[in-house]
Amino acid sequence: MITMKNVIREGHKTLVTVAKPVKLPLTSGDKRLLKDLLQFVKNSQDPDMVEKYELRPAVGIAAPQVNVSKRMYAVHVTDFDGTLYSYALINPVITEKSKELIYMPGGEGCLSVDRETEGITPRYKSITLEALSYDEASGSVIPIKLHLQGYVSIIFQHELDHLDGILFVSKLFPSIPNAEPAFEIPEDEEGAAV
Ligand code: NI
Repeated sequence: MITMKNVIREGHKTLVTVAKPVKLPLTSGDKRLLKDLLQFVKNSQDPDMVEKYELRPAVGIAAPQVNVSKRMYAVHVTDFDGTLYSYALINPVITEKSKELIYMPGGEGCLSVDRETEGITPRYKSITLEALSYDEASGSVIPIKLHLQGYVSIIFQHELDHLDGILFVSKLFPSIPNAEPAFEIPEDEEGAAV
């Protein structure tokens, strides 16, 4: 299983490397990694597992963060309306995006960044994401098209940046003209890392 010991941190070359497209059919190693990435995110939201394995709570993780430079990531996040987005994705691409920009109030967090950061990161308010989704139960790969907005959209964009060798710390601004907060939170509340 993946723990924080497997997560590489800011300064590691893989985090600033553009990851390679995943070839089909998936290798057994790719399948195992997709399963492990998604399981890590789920574990990181389970208080018992967090305590036992000293996990940092997260809503997403990308393959490059465990030093595998391939275009795969997992997200397990519940939107404010209760909708669960739980995916292990292969070769995701944004096929449509809004002109409007949003940002995570209080700034983003990342499993690969241990320091405190100042500033906000611009994201598209809504995106259409096309990818292959790996279904562990059946072992199959299914093309999907997701229409994502607001908070959840930010998570998927943050993970996609990891595949392009971009950390949010390279996109920090004190303010962003014409961008809106994705939601309102008290300023001292910390979000989950991705
Ligand atoms: Ni991250």
